[in-house]
Amino acid sequence: MGVPDIVIANAGVSTGTLNSEREDLVTFKRVIDINLYGVMHTFLPFIKAFKKRQHGQFVGIASVAGIRGLPGSGAYSASKAALINYLESMRIEMLPHNIQVTTIAPGYIKTPMTSGNTFAMPFILDVDEAVNLFIKAIDRKKKFIIIPWQMNIVGKLMRLLPASVWDFLAKQGPKKLRAMIE
Ligand SMILES: NC(=O)c1ccc[n+]([C@@H]2O[C@H](COP(=O)([O-])OP(=O)(O)OC[C@H]3O[C@@H](n4cnc5c(N)ncnc54)[C@H](OP(=O)(O)O)[C@@H]3O)[C@@H](O)[C@H]2O)c1
Repeated sequence: MGVPDIVIANAGVSTGTLNSEREDLVTFKRVIDINLYGVMHTFLPFIKAFKKRQHGQFVGIASVAGIRGLPGSGAYSASKAALINYLESMRIEMLPHNIQVTTIAPGYIKTPMTSGNTFAMPFILDVDEAVNLFIKAIDRKKKFIIIPWQMNIVGKLMRLLPASVWDFLAKQGPKKLRAMIE
């Protein structure tokens, strides 16, 4: 089949976890295994081939949840924060080889991942809308993008808030139901 032009690492899992519960460590490891190492394993077989050809694009699907720590979602939040930084490292390493790395950090999208959520999900996107925004970002070879634009404003504010303000806002926010992933 030859070397592809674009490699997208989209697979991911999300669940609520509690930092106080030892048994949740299994879920923590699994979430990080899939959401972080899964992306590395997806990209790795293509890096040398892209470098040789001096062309290619890697796309990683992160999350707004990776911008600040979310209570009740320690595993997911940590996995996506680590992913955002891994993708940034990759992006800079790939610059001399004419290889683009695009990080997409979505807010909420209507998929099975969010179908069980009982809390309000502001600016939630239908899958088709989300896919169109993904395609646009990939076509434009964006380095980092939060979608939709309303979430981009939220995400930028989240980054700027001092810890005490973030703590106050986040502690009253919605929490994903705790469940084990093995
Ligand atoms: N939905 C949202 O609101 C939202 C927001 C921000 C970011 N994201 C991110 O968007 C990406 C896609 O999520 P989604 O909403 O489409 O979730 P989803 O509906 O739960 O789908 C998850 C996908 O990941 C695959 N997957 C999970 N574990 C895997 C593994 N160990 N090996 C291979 N594939 C695996 C699943 O494959 P199978 O069906 O074969 O299990 C499925 O195709 C994820 O990275 C997620 O974190 C989603």
